[in-house]
Amino acid sequence: MVTLADLQVTTLGQPTIPSPLAEYVGGRATNEYYVGEDDRVLFDDTISLVKARGLPLDELPTFEAGGARDRIYFDPATTRAGIVTCGGLCPGLNDVIRAIVFELYEHYGVTDVLGFRNGYAGLVPECGLEPMVLTPESVANIHERGGTVLGSSRGAQEVDVVVDELEARGVNLFFVIGGDGSMRGAHKIAQECLRRGNDIAVVGVPKTIDNDIPHIGQSFGFQTAFSRAAESIKAAKVEAEAALGGVGIVKVMGRHAGFIACYSAIAGHDADFVLIPEVPFDLDGEHGLLAHLHRRVAERGHAVIVVAEGAGQQHCETSGATDPSGNAVLGDIGILLRERIRADFSGRGEPVNVRYFDPGYLIRSVPADPVDSVYCARLAQIAVHAAMSGRTDMVVGRRRHRFVNVPIAYVTHRPHSVSPDGDLWLSVLESTSQPHAMRA
Ligand code: F6P
Repeated sequence: MVTLADLQVTTLGQPTIPSPLAEYVGGRATNEYYVGEDDRVLFDDTISLVKARGLPLDELPTFEAGGARDRIYFDPATTRAGIVTCGGLCPGLNDVIRAIVFELYEHYGVTDVLGFRNGYAGLVPECGLEPMVLTPESVANIHERGGTVLGSSRGAQEVDVVVDELEARGVNLFFVIGGDGSMRGAHKIAQECLRRGNDIAVVGVPKTIDNDIPHIGQSFGFQTAFSRAAESIKAAKVEAEAALGGVGIVKVMGRHAGFIACYSAIAGHDADFVLIPEVPFDLDGEHGLLAHLHRRVAERGHAVIVVAEGAGQQHCETSGATDPSGNAVLGDIGILLRERIRADFSGRGEPVNVRYFDPGYLIRSVPADPVDSVYCARLAQIAVHAAMSGRTDMVVGRRRHRFVNVPIAYVTHRPHSVSPDGDLWLSVLESTSQPHAMRA
C-alpha cells in the first residue's frame, strides 16, 4: 500500500536563488502562480478510500504539486541542460523538446541546452553521436512535425558511461523523455548522480502512446494516437458494411495495455469486438470469438474487430525473441484472426470478406493534435520548474487536473493496464455489446 514516503520527491539541496520568474508574477498582489511546499495533491479520490486509511491528514499519501517555486536551486547563468528522447516515437515529442528549450531560455535565462541524439546511445562516446545545440531559433517550428528532431533508440546503456558523459559535458539538468524502460534507466542515472554528489538533476517526461505508465494521468500523445486509430476503425466499418459478409479487422499498437484499442473503439462506436491483452479470449467453442462473430454477422450483415497487438498471444506462434528494450517479440494476432475467420466462415459455407487494417506506425509518427500539444507544452514547463528548483529522480504527471511531481521509482514499480473489472472496460462492453467473456 502506498505511503507518503513513497511519494516524496528527492531534492539536491535547499533552493536559495530568487526565481527569475518573479518578473512575471512579482507585480501581483499575491504570488498565486507559485506552488508552496504544503500544496499537495491527494492520492485517494474518494472519501471512502481516505477513511479506510485511518491516518491523520498530514500522513495521508499525497503527491507534490508540480509548478514554479519562488526559489530555485540552479544559477541560470552557469547552468547547462541536456535533453534526450528514448524508445518508440510518440506524437508530441517535438512539442516537449521545444517547450523545454523555450522555458529554459526565455523564462529562466538558461541559454545552454544540448540535445543528445538517438536516445541513451547519444550519451555513449563510442557511438560517435555529437549532441545538437538547441536554441529557441532551432526549435521554433519543430512541433509542426511528427517524430523527434533528436532521433531515438531503444535499449539501456551503461549507467556509469552515461553519467561520466553528463559530467564531461557539464550538464546540470538532464531531461529524459521516454517510456517505462527509459524511466528505469533515468532512475539509475539519477541514483548514480546522487551517489557521486555531482549536482545533476534528472527529470523525466513520461512518453508512451500505449498509456501504460501509472499515476501520471494520461500520457502525452495518447489522445492523438487513438484518434488516428479511430480513423482506421471508421474505414473498416465502411468497408465491412459494403461487403457481403464483411468483417473489418483493425490491429492497433498496445503490447501489454489495451488503452489504444479501447479508446479508439469507443470514440466511433463502430466496433463490434475489442480484444486486448488484459482480457483473454477463446477462438473456438460456442462462446468463443468465432461463434460470436458469426452470430453478429448473421444479425447485422457485417462486423468490426479492433485488436491490440498484444491480445490473444496464447493463440499465436512466438519466436521467444526480445527487442532491444527487452520486450517479447509478439506473434501476429491480426493475421491469425484474418486467417481463422476466413477458414471458419468458409467451413460453414458462408460468404466472408475480410478487410484488414494495420495502421501501425501511422498513429504515432504524426504531429500532436492541439489538445496533446497544449499538454506537452505544459508538462515540459512543469519539468523545467522542477529541475530548476533542484528536484531529481522524478517525473511530471497530472492527477485530477493538477500537475504533480512523482518519484520515478513510483511510476515504474508496476505497469498501468486496462482493468477487466474497471469502468473503462465496462464502457467498451457497453459500446460494442460484445459478451463479457468469450471463453469456450
Ligand atoms: O512501446 C510502445 C509501442 O507503441 C508498442 O505498443 C509497440 O509494440 C511498439 O511501440 C512498437 O515500436 P517499435 O517497432 O519501435 O519497437
